[in-house]
Amino acid sequence: MNITFESRGSDSGNRILVTRPLVGERWLDLLTSAGFHIDICTIERTLSPAELIEAIGTSCVGAIGQLSESWNADVLRALHAGGGRVVCNYAVGYNNIDVTEATRLGIAVGNTPGVLTEATAELAAALTYAAIRQVVPADTFTREGRFIGWAPSLFLGDLLHRKTLGVLGPGRIGTAYIRCLAFGNRMDIMYVSRSPKGDLEREVASFNRYLTEMGERPISITRAGTLRELLEPSDVVALLSSYDPSMRHLMGESELRAMKPNAVLVNASRGPVVDESALVRHLQTHPGFRAGLDVYEDEPRLAEGLRSCSNALLMPHIGSATHWSREAMSVLAARNIIGVLQGWPRWNGSTYLPLLADDAPQATPSIVNIPQ
Ligand code: GLV
Ligand code: GLV
Repeated sequence: MNITFESRGSDSGNRILVTRPLVGERWLDLLTSAGFHIDICTIERTLSPAELIEAIGTSCVGAIGQLSESWNADVLRALHAGGGRVVCNYAVGYNNIDVTEATRLGIAVGNTPGVLTEATAELAAALTYAAIRQVVPADTFTREGRFIGWAPSLFLGDLLHRKTLGVLGPGRIGTAYIRCLAFGNRMDIMYVSRSPKGDLEREVASFNRYLTEMGERPISITRAGTLRELLEPSDVVALLSSYDPSMRHLMGESELRAMKPNAVLVNASRGPVVDESALVRHLQTHPGFRAGLDVYEDEPRLAEGLRSCSNALLMPHIGSATHWSREAMSVLAARNIIGVLQGWPRWNGSTYLPLLADDAPQATPSIVNIPQ
């Protein structure tokens, strides 16, 4: 192991570790203007815990890490020993960080919410459309020179229009996804969440006033009591919640069997929500069933057999991958680091957009714990 860095900022400044080069330049200007010395790892792959510990070294006040890295107790103890007080994940999800240990060690854990909501929702919507209309197999077919003329039953798919959309976890991303699909396609909405989504329900009510005025049938929105209740009636089931280990294999063999045989399952949450081997078996035995996946149980490894399921659409975890979102995530990550280390108050606005401005308030965007 030999971790190499590209360094920026003052040599005498406190050291910030950044485990992968981030998108954009502004985040670097923010950190260097605040007087920090930044070490960006130049090995462009996922670092193991041992490599993270090596990269942290003996002096490191803060770090920006990746969701693919395991920030376990050993890594956090190394960060603490190096004087570290903050780690920010370059992601909204932070299930790869041992937050309990970080809290105990007095390390703040940051994430980058809000600025990737629409990006992730739009990718999940793209997966939904592409899966239900076989966009990728049809493209391959055409490319391979197999299109020999229009045919009545070539690549028949299904409509989204007036179907039922089931969403597990209508948080920011889930709500944006529902907006993308349910309004345009007049879909009935079912969702499962800990609490009723009043804002979304009001939005649907005002959309329904518009539909009624236009002489169209309203759409419905129903909060299901259990995941099971949502699975049977839904034509599309989208998993868009944040992840904690209690959700592991929430979608297993019997849940998949409870879905319609020609339903679409979309996962842009975290891989372990789905029992991936059970999904492979289900895809193999139900050719009409389709899956659109952006995340996997053991990334970047795929479950045996998944790659040969032509009814699965497989993305390499790119939900938040738009230029704007990734640059904004970099800025929020830099501000999280600076905010914690300079003692800025926590931001409590309803949107993170003001924190992207040049004259942003001195506020720490998003810290998920209360370090002791
Ligand atoms: C991506 O999966 C994220 O959590 O931002
Ligand atoms: C992320 O932005 C979410 O909470 O859905």
